[in-house]
Amino acid sequence: TSFFKPIQGASPPPPTSRNTKISVVGVGNVGMAIAQTILTQDLADEISLVDVNADKLRGEMLDLQHAAAFLPRTKISASVDYSSTLGSDLIIVTAGARQIPGESRLNLLQRNLGLFSKMIPPLAAGSPETILLIVSNPVDVLTYVAWKLSGFPSNRVIGSGTNLDSSRFRFLIADHLDLNAQDVQAYIVGEHGDSSVALWSSISVGGVPILSFLERQQIAYEKHTLEKIHKEVVQGAYEVISLKGYTSWAIGYSVASLARSILRDQRSIHPVSVLAKGFYGIDGGEPFLSLPAQLGRSGVLGVTNIHLTEDESQQLRESAKTILEVQSQLGV
Ligand code: NAI
Ligand code: LAC
Repeated sequence: TSFFKPIQGASPPPPTSRNTKISVVGVGNVGMAIAQTILTQDLADEISLVDVNADKLRGEMLDLQHAAAFLPRTKISASVDYSSTLGSDLIIVTAGARQIPGESRLNLLQRNLGLFSKMIPPLAAGSPETILLIVSNPVDVLTYVAWKLSGFPSNRVIGSGTNLDSSRFRFLIADHLDLNAQDVQAYIVGEHGDSSVALWSSISVGGVPILSFLERQQIAYEKHTLEKIHKEVVQGAYEVISLKGYTSWAIGYSVASLARSILRDQRSIHPVSVLAKGFYGIDGGEPFLSLPAQLGRSGVLGVTNIHLTEDESQQLRESAKTILEVQSQLGV
C-alpha cells in the first residue's frame, strides 16, 4: 500500500527543469554561514558540502538535515571527495586558512595558493559549465588563480570581492543618516582589503546624490567624516576577527545574494571581483578586483561605467597595482 490513494487518470508531471545544484567547498565558519543562508533562501535543490575534515563535514550535514522540517526540501550531501560536486551549477569556494587577529588577507596567499592548485582543477573538470564563486582570501588574487587553473572564460570565475565591504559601507552610511541600508546605493571597489576604494561621488540615497543630500540637510560632513566611514569599512573585518575570531554572518548573506543573482538570472549589479583588464583605464596585466558588475545565469554579463573622479580613478589604479604586485609573485 502507498501513503496516498492515487488520483484516477492523473497526467504525468511535466519534464522538470534540471535541479539546481550548489557545491560549497570548505565547511568552516564561512562555508556553513553560506550554506545555511542558501538553504533558508531556497536557492538550490541540492547542496553538496565538501571538506577535508570528514567528521566536521558529516556533523554539519546531519545538523542541517535535522532542520528539514523548517526548511524548503533540499537534498544535502557531504563528501571529502571533490567528485561529489559533479554537475554543479555553482561552486562556492571557502576552503583555506583565515586571518589571525591583526593579519592582512594578502598574508594568507602562500598557505591558500597550494590548496587552490590541488582543488581547482578537479572542481573545474567535474563541472565544466559551472560558475566558480571564490570567497577564500586573498579573494582577488585567488580568483585570478582559479581563473588560470580552471581554464574557464573570465565571466564564469567571480570573487565575492567588495560585495561585503559595500554592505558594511551602506550600513555605516545608513546608520550615520538614520536610513535603511537598502536605500543607500554605494560601492566600494578595488581590492577586498586595505586598498579598497570608496566611490563617494556616485553614492545616492533614494535617487539623491549623497554629497548634495548632505549639503541640503546641512548635515555636517567634512571630508574626514567620509574618510572615517571608509576607514571603519576597512577596519571592520579586523575588529570582528579580534572580537569573535572570524567573520561569517555578513559574508554568508553577501554570497547568498550573489548566488541568487546568478542562479535566478536577476541581472542585478554587484561589486564583485572580475577580470578588470580593459575597464576604468586598467590595462596592464590581468588583475581581478571588484567593479560594479551585472550578474546573471551566465555569470558576469558586463561592468557598469560609473563616472569616477580623478582621485577615485587614481585610487583604483593603485589598488590594481597592489594586486598585480602580489600576482607577479605567483607561479601560475
Ligand atoms: P575555517 O578555518 O573556519 O574553515 C576553513 C575550512 O576549509 C575548514 O573546515 C578546513 O577543513 C577546510 N579546508 C582546508 N583545506 C581544504 C581543502 N583542501 N579542501 C576542502 N576544504 C578544506 O575558516 P573560515 O572562517 O570559514 O574562512 C575560510 C576562508 O574564507 C578564509 O580564507 C577567510 O579569510 C575567507 N573569508 C573571506 C571573506 C571574503 O569577504 N572574501 C570573508 C570571510 C572569510
Ligand atoms: C572579511 C574578511 C575576513 O570579513 O575577508 O572581510
